Amino acid sequence: PIPLLIDTDPGVDDALALLMAFADRRHRLLGLTIAAGNVGLDHTVANALKLCEVAGVDVPVHPGCPVPLVHPAADAAYVHGRDGFGDTGYAPAARAAADEHAALAIVRHAREHAGRLVLVTLGPLTNVALALRLDPELPQRIARLVVMGGAVTGQGNTSIPAEFNIGFDPEAAEVVFRAFPQFELADWEAVVRHPLPRGSLEAWLQADDARARFYEGISRHTRQWSMARDPHGFHSADALAMAVALQPEGVRRAETRHLAVELEGRLSRGATVVDWQRRSGRPENARIVLDYDPALFAAQVREALGA
Ligand code: BDR
Ligand code: CA
Repeated sequence: PIPLLIDTDPGVDDALALLMAFADRRHRLLGLTIAAGNVGLDHTVANALKLCEVAGVDVPVHPGCPVPLVHPAADAAYVHGRDGFGDTGYAPAARAAADEHAALAIVRHAREHAGRLVLVTLGPLTNVALALRLDPELPQRIARLVVMGGAVTGQGNTSIPAEFNIGFDPEAAEVVFRAFPQFELADWEAVVRHPLPRGSLEAWLQADDARARFYEGISRHTRQWSMARDPHGFHSADALAMAVALQPEGVRRAETRHLAVELEGRLSRGATVVDWQRRSGRPENARIVLDYDPALFAAQVREALGA
């Protein structure tokens, strides 16, 4: 199996993505490195440990950076609940987090699995940026970097042009995107084009499986909140990125372009600026997923929930 490491800030959609990775047989999950983002680090670590417990998965959970590299940022508790998992009041996991810092775990796994490691990022890129400063050769060691983040034509979900993961820590994203000669990107606009059919999701959530039951509970608030945005489909950003990572053959259309992050700007800090017209001559670092097989995506989610 292909070694897999996931950097994540769980988060309701992170949880679905993680369940997909847990259910996958082609990859071997080495661990989870945890970012702050959707909510504070204490919660994202506790949520990761709880999800592992529910799914019966015993991989190390490495706490990472509690704050962005440079500027403080607001969380997304209004989407995910104050605890990031829909405020269900679940009993904390019995297991404790690992001692090793997330950035050190990324550096170590990249060395141990050089040329083979798949790194998927589902949150702000703070831990990966720090890992790059510890080991500048990280991009040469990692086989695939798959990122959920950005809004490639300026239609964001936090500010007008910025998507949450990039907007939370734009400096970290810029460090990462400059360093990697190529990464795969599932951006927010792709997420909006790939909704999970609501009727199907609701049916899968009724499955007689601990994962479905837990996910039904933690996603209730978010499913309600998202109704106003799209009554027919459920937008699960991290789940789409995970589908791309686990089954890249589902990608039906992608374009490769130069992508950079706007770090200033009165209205545009955190925007991902894509050189669609190839005007800059700068390195084409981003493979932007435009179309993913919806049936394959749905099948992965269904299996992840045990339905
Ligand atoms: C991204 O932001 C977070 O709120 C989600 O978990 C996802 O990673 C979507 O913009
Ligand atoms: Ca996330």
